[in-house]
Amino acid sequence: MKAMILKSFGGPESFELCDVPKPVPGTGQVLVRVYATSINPLDYQVRRGDYSELVQLPAITGHDISGVVEEVGPGVTTFAPGDEVWYTPQIFDGPGSYAEYHVAAESIIGKKPSSLSHLEAASLSLVGGTVWEALIVRAALRVGESILIHGGAGGVGHVAIQVAKAMGAKVFTTVREANSEFARSLGADVVIDYEKEDYVDAIMRETGGRGVDVVFDTIGGNTLSRSPDTLAQLGRVVTIVDVAQPQNVVNAWGKNASYHFVFTRQNRGKLDELSALVARGQLRPHVGAVYSLADIALAHARLESPNNGVRGKIAIAVEPSLIS
Ligand SMILES: NC(=O)c1ccc[n+]([C@@H]2O[C@H](COP(=O)([O-])OP(=O)(O)OC[C@H]3O[C@@H](n4cnc5c(N)ncnc54)[C@H](OP(=O)(O)O)[C@@H]3O)[C@@H](O)[C@H]2O)c1
Repeated sequence: MKAMILKSFGGPESFELCDVPKPVPGTGQVLVRVYATSINPLDYQVRRGDYSELVQLPAITGHDISGVVEEVGPGVTTFAPGDEVWYTPQIFDGPGSYAEYHVAAESIIGKKPSSLSHLEAASLSLVGGTVWEALIVRAALRVGESILIHGGAGGVGHVAIQVAKAMGAKVFTTVREANSEFARSLGADVVIDYEKEDYVDAIMRETGGRGVDVVFDTIGGNTLSRSPDTLAQLGRVVTIVDVAQPQNVVNAWGKNASYHFVFTRQNRGKLDELSALVARGQLRPHVGAVYSLADIALAHARLESPNNGVRGKIAIAVEPSLIS
């Protein structure tokens, strides 16, 4: 099979398209023909060597799959050849998604929502699972609460807006001006242009000084350390971003705040819950750009550049017929 192999840590040119043996499913495993994957910041962080101690080279990387079951190993009961499936491969544990075939445990695989294309489903599994873990499992967002979602036009943020609205929350989000209409079209109630206005001032003005119940941080740094300033009493902060510098969050004391640190975990349950929202028309990933597997370096370079003009996700058509 064809696979994009990471041969050394470095820039986008570090990948090489190679022929490698097709994997074979073992007990409890499923062989999937990969139709589509997508790019996440984790992909370029891995490529650069940020997690070099966890990734053995040469490696097949990549963290989203939508495809079709080709074969099942002994003991598999949930899936049969021909089923359309979607999932995030185990992170830092075995080959990733930049290949024509992938083998995974049936416990992390979900049935693909039928109303989503492969490019769409591959654009939702990792970011959707992360949002579910952050907003529903950790922050326990409730009907009628308010939430500030940082980075509302990004891969994670654009899904978070839709999930928060589906939960009955009032959504505030930060985006650059060019993405304001996009954020509103996803359901955001209040859109803050982070380049023009201080988001703490905007939240306090828009909430009459009360603050929000939940802050979802997809940016890090200043965004995390100033989050307590936007919180209501008993507010919760969920961050999904590495905290590289010590953060002074002493203001969180005065707010009786709680903090949650999330690194996405794979399981079928979250995929099925996301599928329910998709089926009800409350959630749909936005595919902002599509590249072929051979052009993965271009896709990495684009996602890595600031102000790259991408709304939502960059999808990768592993099956060539998915790209025009
Ligand atoms: N812990 C986990 O499990 C987990 C899972 C998924 C992602 N992550 C992390 O979460 C972060 C976001 O991921 P993603 O997939 O959403 O990335 P992405 O698709 O690149 O989106 C990031 C968004 O943030 C916007 N942005 C940049 N600076 C901003 C600021 N100061 N205020 C508000 N928005 C700003 C960017 O848009 P403009 O530059 O155009 O404004 C872009 O829309 C990454 O660091 C990623 O590694 C962690």
